Amino acid sequence: MHKASKYTVQEQFMSESAWEKLRGLAKPSLAELFAGDPARLDTLATRFELGEDEAATTIRFDWSKTHLDAAHMAAFEELAEAMDFAGRRKALFGGEIVNPTEGRAAEHTAQRGVGKEESVMLAAENHHRMAAIVEAIHRGAMGEVKHLIHIGIGGSALGPALAVDALARDGAMVDVHVVSNIDGCAMEEAFKGCDPAKTMLAVASKTFTTIETMTNAESAIEWLRENGVEDPYGRVVALTASPEKAMEWGVDETRILPFSESVGGRYSLWSSIGFPVAMALGWPDFAEFLAGAAAMDEHFRDTDGSANLPLRAAFADQYYTRLRGCQTRAVFAYDERLALLPDYLQQLEMESNGKSVKADGSAVDGPTAPITWGGVGTDAQHAVFQLLHQGTNLVPVDFIASIAPGHDLSLDHHRILLSNCFAQGAALMAGKESDDPARAYPGDRPSATILLDEVSPATFGALIAFHEHRTFANAVLMGINPFDQFGVELGKEIAKQIEKGGTKFDPSTEALLELAGIS
Ligand code: F6P
Repeated sequence: MHKASKYTVQEQFMSESAWEKLRGLAKPSLAELFAGDPARLDTLATRFELGEDEAATTIRFDWSKTHLDAAHMAAFEELAEAMDFAGRRKALFGGEIVNPTEGRAAEHTAQRGVGKEESVMLAAENHHRMAAIVEAIHRGAMGEVKHLIHIGIGGSALGPALAVDALARDGAMVDVHVVSNIDGCAMEEAFKGCDPAKTMLAVASKTFTTIETMTNAESAIEWLRENGVEDPYGRVVALTASPEKAMEWGVDETRILPFSESVGGRYSLWSSIGFPVAMALGWPDFAEFLAGAAAMDEHFRDTDGSANLPLRAAFADQYYTRLRGCQTRAVFAYDERLALLPDYLQQLEMESNGKSVKADGSAVDGPTAPITWGGVGTDAQHAVFQLLHQGTNLVPVDFIASIAPGHDLSLDHHRILLSNCFAQGAALMAGKESDDPARAYPGDRPSATILLDEVSPATFGALIAFHEHRTFANAVLMGINPFDQFGVELGKEIAKQIEKGGTKFDPSTEALLELAGIS
């Protein structure tokens, strides 16, 4: 086992001295940083190429409007070394136990073909089976399938919802509805849009025990039955790491698409949890999506120091949380197709790195994951940007946009959209003086810009993999385990006790239960 689970005294000492150094560095303003370094843009804005020929699609990662400079990057590189970033990254890709509290590896990259050989082979076998089922259903093996209701929650829903919304707006091969909330209104909304005779269900749950998913799945089965479908379980495909539980629930083995226990829920979009994406796009596009992520995996695995894009992003994240006290970070997608990206990133970043103890159980040395929030541009400009420009909180912002539009309307739409996106970054940085304090903008507010050539399966795959690795890199720098999530359990346990009855709670909770007629 790699020492991923243990932080040595020497690592602790070296990381403390790297932080000491970081705290002592001068903090020039963004304007000073640009003025003092003519090559700043070349150093901090990098073209990431997907493919090797001239026609390769690219993603531009521009961190030049953050306060990272050569001195900070060098000191963060020392921190990364102190935390054995290279060793821990090797352990991640090598399929070692990097999730010590659950005794598990974290092998999402193997789903993209990058990782331990046996795990890559197992993932390829599972994908082979998934491709065969997707293609068979497209050819009519389950009769006419016009609608697919995908039932899951958290990592079993946010990724599929985002990917389908981003990539399958035009010409989707099936109409996908993702339902996660236990509130029956969510399920009813999906039913309204579906013809039961032409609807199949995907029940997505790593554990196949999650109360919301199983309750929603029962209701969907009931809906099919009540609407004349004779064998509703025959309309179900199960996406799970617990195939035996899916069988017990009533799904035939031939329609169970398994994935490995070592793929975490919020990292599972690449596994069979991506089934609705493959159903909507067709297998070749799903394979492109995996390939785009694999290109980012290889970059992350093979690049050292600040040239490593996810690691560089993590340096900026650490700079703002630990050196500038920022409690939140905001993500604005200037692209309607990526409107669900902030929701997805909330789970990825907050469930992974919202911790108070390190991987060895000791208390963390400083703040961990900031609160990830955001929205879609330009809508958010007219709602929350006031605080970004003039509020008292310093909020590092990521802008994400695509050069190619996703629609056929006049190009005015896209020109105005992108102009606004770039204008916001420029305005946050430049600020504006005024004799009237209410009209003054302090400026020197940071942002990063991720500019895709286009929103395609490959660029989208690379974008999501970039964020997974950024999250991992942040965790390594803070010494925490990003792959467990015990913080979600207590509320679930108490909900179970309430369901069971007989437990006395605090007076406020008791009163609420009584009012709602639950006790
Ligand atoms: O409660 C949190 C969580 O365990 C997430 O980590 C996970 O993505 C989600 O619930 C759903 O879990 P499952 O896929 O097992 O239904």
